[in-house]
Amino acid sequence: MSDRGTEKREILRVTDLSKSYYHLGREVPILNRANLVLYEGDMLSVSGKSGIGKSTFLHVVGTLDRPTAGSVHYWGEDVFSMSDGVLARFRNEQLGFIFQFHHLLPEFTALENVMIPALIARRDSRSARERAEGLLEEVGLSHRREHRPGELSGGEQQRVAIARALMMKPRIVFADEPTGNLDERTSDEIHELLFRLNEDLNLTLVVVTHSASLAKRLPSRYVMRDGTLEKSDG
Ligand SMILES: Nc1ncnc2c1ncn2[C@@H]1O[C@H](COP(=O)(O)OP(=O)(O)OP(=O)(O)O)[C@@H](O)[C@H]1O
Ligand SMILES: [Mg+2]
Repeated sequence: MSDRGTEKREILRVTDLSKSYYHLGREVPILNRANLVLYEGDMLSVSGKSGIGKSTFLHVVGTLDRPTAGSVHYWGEDVFSMSDGVLARFRNEQLGFIFQFHHLLPEFTALENVMIPALIARRDSRSARERAEGLLEEVGLSHRREHRPGELSGGEQQRVAIARALMMKPRIVFADEPTGNLDERTSDEIHELLFRLNEDLNLTLVVVTHSASLAKRLPSRYVMRDGTLEKSDG
């Protein structure tokens, strides 16, 4: 690569992305030619009315679902032209997700939940365990690592989900209402953690949030409207 100077590297390019669902035989259009370009280390918020398509957008851009039309390029590569196996591996290794509903596996402990992406990738389990322990310490949960999700508070579960999202050292993290149901203080702690990761690791962060105070702290803000993303000055 030649662009190693001060130029920030493009990480993500979303082009004319459209997504429809089909319900009872009828097309339900959600995304309609949405566009977005992100550079490494960018942090942005996406807000918009409930049901407008924010989670859908994250799922498609995060390659968990396929678009109806349009393309998504990471580092210049068209991810939807990859085979399913290659795409799954790319997703596991490069992208981190903090879901709106955190999807922890109920049968597994906090520590095991954090380790799962590394186990899927068949990484050495001892080093995976060490990294997972370190991440749980980062999110302030060392004392709860043997608890199962049902034995953790909502905020603790969310912090486990954040540790899991970071397990594979992703280059970009998608967070869907990461602190939606948490008290103000716990939310603030989680936001600080995300900002610290952005600063320390140059992590790129896309956060869907209804919180105006969180959005204000992010360098750029977008609003989803009529199936597209608009940059917002407010
Ligand atoms: N599998 C599906 N089949 C049909 N319609 C769907 C499906 N999944 C989502 N939808 C519809 O797509 C629309 C967008 O949903 P999405 O979850 O992206 O909204 P959102 O902006 O994240 O909302 P919220 O702020 O409430 O989380 C909704 O109206 C929803 O009913
Ligand atoms: Mg949503």
